[in-house]
Order: sequence, then C-alpha cells, then structure tokens
Amino acid sequence: MKQGFDRRQFLERAAAMSALMAGSGQAASAMQAKPLETVRLGFIGVGGRGSGHVRDVLRIPQVKLNAVCDINPTRVEAIQNWAQKAGQARPEGYSKGPVDYKRLCANPNLDAIYVATPWELHVPMCVEAMKNGKHAIVEVPAATTLEECWQLVETSEATGKYCIMIENCNYDRVELMALNMARKNLFGELVHAECGYLHDLRGTKFSSRGEGLWRLDHAIKRNADLYPTHGLGPVAQTLGVNRGNLFDHMVSMASKSEGLREYARAKFGADSPQAKLDVKLGDVVSSLIRTRAGQTILVVHDTNLPRPYSRKILLQGTKGVLEKYPTPQIYIEGRDKNDQWVDLMTGYAAEFEHPLWKELQERAKGAGHGGMDFVMNYRLMQCLIKGEAPDMDVYDAAALSAVTELSERSIASRSKSVDFPDFTRGKWRSRPPFGIVTA
Ligand SMILES: NC(=O)c1ccc[n+]([C@@H]2O[C@H](COP(=O)([O-])OP(=O)(O)OC[C@H]3O[C@@H](n4cnc5c(N)ncnc54)[C@H](O)[C@@H]3O)[C@@H](O)[C@H]2O)c1
Repeated sequence: MKQGFDRRQFLERAAAMSALMAGSGQAASAMQAKPLETVRLGFIGVGGRGSGHVRDVLRIPQVKLNAVCDINPTRVEAIQNWAQKAGQARPEGYSKGPVDYKRLCANPNLDAIYVATPWELHVPMCVEAMKNGKHAIVEVPAATTLEECWQLVETSEATGKYCIMIENCNYDRVELMALNMARKNLFGELVHAECGYLHDLRGTKFSSRGEGLWRLDHAIKRNADLYPTHGLGPVAQTLGVNRGNLFDHMVSMASKSEGLREYARAKFGADSPQAKLDVKLGDVVSSLIRTRAGQTILVVHDTNLPRPYSRKILLQGTKGVLEKYPTPQIYIEGRDKNDQWVDLMTGYAAEFEHPLWKELQERAKGAGHGGMDFVMNYRLMQCLIKGEAPDMDVYDAAALSAVTELSERSIASRSKSVDFPDFTRGKWRSRPPFGIVTA
C-alpha cells in the first residue's frame, strides 16, 4: 500500500486497540502518565466556557478543584463558591492581572490545568502549565499559528506532560456512532469527508460581553479558517489522522467579506464605527485537505452570515455514506433500499451506538452541548485517574490547529497548495489508531 497506509492493517490495529482498552484500560502510547488517586485541577479563564467545565468536573468523584484564575475577580469568587457548595475546600483564587496565571501554574497542589481563555492566550498558558509540571487541558483551537503549534509539541515532548485540546465535538453522539461504524467497516474504504463550523456568530462578534470582547478582532485581522476543530476533530479521529494516517496538503479559498458589514449597518447605523470596520475574514472559507491515505476532506468556516447551525459531518466510503446535518441520515449499500437515506437514529442507533455514549448518556443529561461536554470531561478525568493516555494528544492539537495558518497562507497565495507539517515527526506510521473506548 502507498505511503505506509494499509486499510486492513489499520482496521485490525483499531480492533486490537479497542479490545485492549476495553479489557485492561491500557492505551498504547509513547507518553503515559502514572495513575492518580485524585485529579487536582486548576482553571485559567472561567468565562462562558471555563465555568461550564467547572460545573462538569465538580460532579466527578476523585476530582478536586484546587485553584482558579481569571482577570475578572467576580468570576473567581463565583467559582470558589461553587466548589464550596459542592463540598470541596475553597480553591485558591488568582486575579491579580493578566499574568497572574503564572502563580497558579506554580501552585504545587495541581496535576492538570484547564485553559479556557481567548485564543491568543492558550499557548503561553499551556506552555507555562507544562513547564511547571502540569498537564495542559486547553480549549479549541489550541494554537493560532504554526509556530505556536510547534511550541506545544516541543514543550509537551520535553516535559513529558500532556497537552490535550478538548475537542468536545469528538464526543457528540452521532460523531461517536460514526466512529464506531467506521471501525466496524460499515462504510468500506473511507474516501471523502465534509465538515466545518457553520454558525451565525454576528451577534456574538458584536457583543460587548464574553467572546464579543476578543473574537471579532481575529476576524478583522485574519482571512483564514479561524475555528477548524469542531468539524475536523471527529473526522480526523475517524480517519486515523496522526495514527496511521496524516493530513498531507490543503488548498483554501475565501469568499468576499460582506456579512459583518451589512449586519453592522442594520444594527448600528451606516455611519457607525462597526459598519466601517475593515474585516479581513471572508464570510465562507472553504479548505480541501488530502490525507496520506488518499481521502479528501472539505472543511468550511462560515460564521458571518445568517444560517442555522451545522458542523456538516459527512463520511463517505466505498459501501455507503452518513451525514449529520440537518438531520442524521445514512445510506449503506446492500442494507438500505436503493439510494435512499435512512434515519440514523431509528434505523441504526440501536445497533451502532458507541459504548462510551451508552455508558454515560444518563449522567450526561442536562450537561453542556447536549451532554457531549460531560462525556468528554468524564472520560478525560478517568484517563488521568487510571493512568491511561488521553484520547487526544498534543499531535492532534497541533495538526487540527495548524489549519488556521495554513488556510491563511493558501488564501493569500491564490489558493496555492500548502503542506501540513508532520508534527509527529514520523511517529504517525506506528501509532495505533484510536479504538472504541469506554469510560
Ligand atoms: N468547545 C466549545 O464548545 C467551546 C464553546 C465556547 C468557547 N470555546 C472556547 O473556549 C475559550 C474561551 O471562550 P469563552 O466563550 O469562555 O470566552 P469568555 O470571553 O466568556 O471567557 C474567557 C475568560 O478568560 C478570562 N481571561 C482573559 N484574559 C485572561 C488572563 N490573562 N488571565 C486569566 N483569565 C483571563 C476572561 O476574563 C474570561 O472570563 C475559547 O478558546 C473558545 O474558543 C469552546
């Protein structure tokens, strides 16, 4: 087979991994930390997202919230109160300005640190955490430039600490089910995927609170896929990227930028400063990745136009096709009526529900984003407790986040093809594919 990829071997290794992980709880990986009796956590950034993670982890036995940092002291206090209310000791608070996170990172009573701050702060905070001997657990995207991606990889390798980008969409019900189906070879040889982040964020970008304070700035400055991981994460996981497969090269194209200006004209007036902003980000940015195993992946970033939410999620192989939006449906040749979609949930879920989802769905009810946030956080905490390598590692964080600068470069050069760095430095060939795990 070409370039070190053999489909049969890939499936066999994935099946072996599943058995291994389900049986002994051991994941084969170069980096594997010792088991922990309790996971002692620190949090940097407890705005919309960080506070959601706090809520999840406070429900997990064997997890202690020992420290919390935010430039906003009111938020720190609120989280301290939540922890106490949940029966924990009051976590130490850090809110003495923008670099107070360094004091939190130096706190000896922490094993891992969640980072849920604006994008440009992720890498310095993760690096500081790892250099201080803590695992970094970072929101998406982990990094905003290639240089930053390498920084994460090099620091994780040098310190032996995990850098886990917590891509919650890898744990959504349909994405997990699709992974399970792919490992059971339902789609045959996978050849094409589509995914993306298609979310009307015009209101958020012009808000004077939360993400409104920083997200628009990225759209003003950069014409790129600024948020590639929600769609691409689960697709990459299913295609075995960094584990027997690799993102090879990519071409990107951006549409013109009209959405934010038109929105601002209507909302703030034609003469408002908002309506006069020079926004670099094209309204729809489309990228096409080719993998070493020969698959194509269409990745779309579409956040400036009115539209219902979607992450696309299409997986297509030699035996059939699945798509998630607007409604999850599937067609498998030989199993379904000729060329007709079947409702995924009524037709296939009973047989192909992912065991992790089955195990946690009750406990995850009411948690963020339909439960997937809790499933992710619970599974991650169990990995740390049991001393198993987490599902997502620094190579995933780097490869997925790299799409931003690579798309920017391709767009800036009339869609010239750009190569992905191999952040694993060849290890992708021997790293076993991600199997079917339970908590
Ligand atoms: N995975 C998901 O579904 C999801 C959803 C929303 C946001 N996110 C990601 O989470 C991250 C945070 O987003 P958010 O929506 O919570 O934004 P937010 O603006 O609500 O929260 C960011 C927090 O960081 C704090 N902060 C800023 N600078 C700081 C510093 N120097 N030190 C300490 N704290 C600092 C802010 O005060 C704020 O409380 C982003 O990376 C975003 O992309 C992911």
